[in-house]
Amino acid sequence: MEISGKTRVCGIIGDPVEHSLSPAMHNAAFQELNLDFVYVVFRVRKDELREAIVGAKSLAIRGLNVTMPHKNAVMKYLDEIESTARAIGAVNTILNDKGRLIGYDTDGIGALKALEENGISLNGKKLLLLGAGGAGKAIAFHGAQEVEELKILNRTTQKAKDLAEVLRKKFGKKIDGNSLSAKTMKKELEDTDILVNATSVGMHPKDDQSLVDASWLRPDLCVMDIVYNPIETKLAKDAKSVGAKVVSGVEMLVYQGAASFEIWTDHPAPVKVMRQAILRKLSELGVHH
Ligand code: ATR
Repeated sequence: MEISGKTRVCGIIGDPVEHSLSPAMHNAAFQELNLDFVYVVFRVRKDELREAIVGAKSLAIRGLNVTMPHKNAVMKYLDEIESTARAIGAVNTILNDKGRLIGYDTDGIGALKALEENGISLNGKKLLLLGAGGAGKAIAFHGAQEVEELKILNRTTQKAKDLAEVLRKKFGKKIDGNSLSAKTMKKELEDTDILVNATSVGMHPKDDQSLVDASWLRPDLCVMDIVYNPIETKLAKDAKSVGAKVVSGVEMLVYQGAASFEIWTDHPAPVKVMRQAILRKLSELGVHH
């Protein structure tokens, strides 16, 4: 990679952020398309967020990804926020458009795109979403626009109910929230088409955990897990073994990155190269299937 006098800078702000997979993914993509761009990591502490954003503007940084703990707090420093990102209350991508900072959320878009690109259409389907945290909320907002029916189950029941109410009012569809119990999951799974785990259950080092009992899974179910460490979670393994279609968390990571890449560069993202870069990095970090 050659840095010129015109190289445009993108990056990620967060704390901690040094283990992010995004530099590998975006730099591979810039290189693939011969774009004079570079992607770097900026560790920004909570109390320095405002200065970082003001600085990014004066340094004419082209784009930023935003991760923990800044996804919500960053919103007040931006000039404009895309409507779904505003509704979700989180921004994970910033575009610097000639000095105007615009905030987007590409997590929900990434999750839906990951499903679609793997042959799973949400149109007319029933989606069962486990989790109403940051990622769950983003998936729910985007998913609710496509599906026929949405069920949200969350350990903290009230969060699922509140989210469902907001979405029901907004989209006027069959959307409900409930507790995340064996009983509710088993019942809902009986007529669900697509199951998405948007909780952190199953993430390393608790690789052997899954919220879903293997006996509740069916061959005609589509399953996506947002957890990508391990690449194949227990839920994904169980779903595969009954013959269900499975989409890994790596796909969501790739497609949220692809959406950010397209916002910054106006070029179609080289998704295959981005996926390879992620898988290479995960393998370097000792993350396996
Ligand atoms: P993210 O941004 O990754 O979604 P988050 O906002 O902290 O992270 O959300 C984590 C999600 O995983 C939440 O839905 C959380 O449930 P609560 O809202 O009840 O906290 C869920 N979660 C985490 N550990 C869990 C567990 N052991 N069992 C069930 N759900 C769990």
